[in-house]
Amino acid sequence: MTLGYGRQWINDDDIAEVVKVLRGDWLTMGPAVDAFEKTLADYAGVKHAVTFSSGTAALHGAMHASGMGAGDFAVTSALTFVATSNSVIYTGATPIFADIDDTFCMDIKKADESIQSHGGRVKAVIPVSFGGYPLDMAGFRELADRYNAVLIEDASHAFGRRKFDADMTTLSFHPVKHITTAEGGAVLTDNDTYARKLRMFRNHGTTRNAAEFVDTPDGPWHSEMQELGYNYRLSEIHSALGLSQMRRLDAFVDRRREIARLYFRELSGVDGLILPPNKEGHLWHLFIVRVDNAELHREFFAHLRDNDIRLQVHYRPVPLQPYYRDKYGYKAGDFPEAERYYRQAVSLPIYPLMTDDDVMRVCGCIKNFAWR
Ligand SMILES: Cc1ncc(COP(=O)(O)O)c(C=O)c1O
Repeated sequence: MTLGYGRQWINDDDIAEVVKVLRGDWLTMGPAVDAFEKTLADYAGVKHAVTFSSGTAALHGAMHASGMGAGDFAVTSALTFVATSNSVIYTGATPIFADIDDTFCMDIKKADESIQSHGGRVKAVIPVSFGGYPLDMAGFRELADRYNAVLIEDASHAFGRRKFDADMTTLSFHPVKHITTAEGGAVLTDNDTYARKLRMFRNHGTTRNAAEFVDTPDGPWHSEMQELGYNYRLSEIHSALGLSQMRRLDAFVDRRREIARLYFRELSGVDGLILPPNKEGHLWHLFIVRVDNAELHREFFAHLRDNDIRLQVHYRPVPLQPYYRDKYGYKAGDFPEAERYYRQAVSLPIYPLMTDDDVMRVCGCIKNFAWR
């Protein structure tokens, strides 16, 4: 059987909840969205959770709510999914990048240098808890405060914890993530103004809340479009799935941690293989090993593929993607740590449905590789 690097776990309860919505009155903008948002906010210990149609839309919403636009800079990690920095560009602002440290997350000192080299101006600091690694949020807060910037954590890899310190935190519910709604995302915040902006932004920039009207209402049907927004709403179907998945989030995280422990136990003696940075609180969205001898990287990848283990490499450093290279002039060598990582890294399968036997099969295959 083929093992992918990640996959969803849908059970009969999830299916029953989705079918209930399909038989009901509301397919969008109904009670399941409200219930899902309340459950997310309660779990995360924040005042507001605002759902979006994807993690990318949630990022776009957070960038918009931060007030960034043309002429602004926002700093993020050179090692992330393209959506993190794309969402900055959507607002008209310019993403700038910083190299990673040995946690695979943005190096705070290098982020500071990157801001300095752009005139010391930055509208947002956007760290990414890469693979689920717990960020030094106190350090990032200090950096953001120094430049009077908004702190936005891209926690697409890091749900399943209950402490969120950024001004806004974005989540993704893509099938490989800690919980899934098929497509979906959310922004977590304690800030009422951000929450209001986020809710308007995902619904065409409109509001039906009388307390927010700038005009005298035309009648009970009155709604106002006060700024340019999008249709980024999450449907009732997706929300019902998310709500059902939330019941198992802690179990999903526990199982990911068990799998990580097994990998550490089984692979710690493999010469030529570098195991990932580990820390209390790691959420193990990804289990990333590195091939010490980069010349064996492709061969290692192919060996596992030939054994029906479908790996991934997360990710090619964003500034070196053709679009970013052409638009902003980045070139090979600008982010040496992220580039070195990219030449060696492989994400092994890790998801709650994996059995111990599956993990042992992956480990056996890694041990069988012609290390030299
Ligand atoms: C770090 C990171 N940010 C943002 C996203 C975008 O999320 P989505 O796929 O839900 O739009 C992803 C998803 O893959 C991600 O890994």
